[in-house]
Amino acid sequence: MKVRKAVIPAAGLGTRLLPASKAVPKEMLPIVDKPVIQYIVEEAVASGITDIVIVTGYGKQAIENHFDTSFELEFHLENRGKHETLEQVRRIDDLANVIYVRQKEPLGNGHAVLVARAAVGDEPFAVLWGDDIILGDPPVTRQMIDAFERLGGPIIGVQAVESIDYPRYGMLEVESIREREYRVHGVIEKPTVEQSPSNLAQIGGFVLTPDVFDILESTREGTAGEIYLADALRTLVQERPVYAYEFEGRRYDTGDKLDYLKANVELALQRAEFGDEFRSYLRSLNLGTAA
Ligand code: UTP
Repeated sequence: MKVRKAVIPAAGLGTRLLPASKAVPKEMLPIVDKPVIQYIVEEAVASGITDIVIVTGYGKQAIENHFDTSFELEFHLENRGKHETLEQVRRIDDLANVIYVRQKEPLGNGHAVLVARAAVGDEPFAVLWGDDIILGDPPVTRQMIDAFERLGGPIIGVQAVESIDYPRYGMLEVESIREREYRVHGVIEKPTVEQSPSNLAQIGGFVLTPDVFDILESTREGTAGEIYLADALRTLVQERPVYAYEFEGRRYDTGDKLDYLKANVELALQRAEFGDEFRSYLRSLNLGTAA
């Protein structure tokens, strides 16, 4: 069955980015000149996704406004003859068919996926975190969907990480199938270097099948009182073949302050209109040691 839908959970509190995320959703913070979530929606659309389910919550109205038509703004830009900007603004509301579902309380990223159940229905779907920009060529979600079509089961996006980083991730116990493709036998959350079964970390998005919803329904809350998708996936691995795909691409966890900064710098350098000037500016900086 074709993967047409993507769920983007965007209802979290974003405490790692406070105070910036107090009144502005972290998914709406700009990377250069576009909000984080627009990169994610564009990547999904470029991957062939037609229906996007965004999970929002209290204080996240700016996300809906961003993907909605703003007649006042368009009228103003048209009258002033700012056609290029007008096209950019119009392109945003034409991107995809966006459906919003509400998570009444931020009860965890797994719970956020569960509230999208009715909007997803009985078909496979992608899950992309609302604060994770993953860029690749071909688009990473496309790579994952292709893997899903080849392997016929849920796909977890993974990348190899340095051993010093093992304790930050869910590390996978896998069996290699062919280049970049693995069967998953287990996931160990934040292991020590010695405990980690491989160097593959659960990093990317996911392509999942609707049976994960039943598992999420019965998944118990973790330590912080939240329901995590990672816990449901651990159960899923016991019940059916689950696969990992080592995608080719660069990921920025923009919900983390340092990664947010890196995303701004690296994506600005890729922009034709000011990349050169920005590059010279960066070169001119006296990068002394920290105070
Ligand atoms: P994070 O794991 O970054 O969660 O969520 P968070 O709670 O927003 O962040 P911190 O740790 O407090 O800084 C990954 C994605 O899942 C969404 C977030 O909005 C983010 O896009 N999410 C998380 C939800 O939709 N609901 C939740 O209850 C938790």
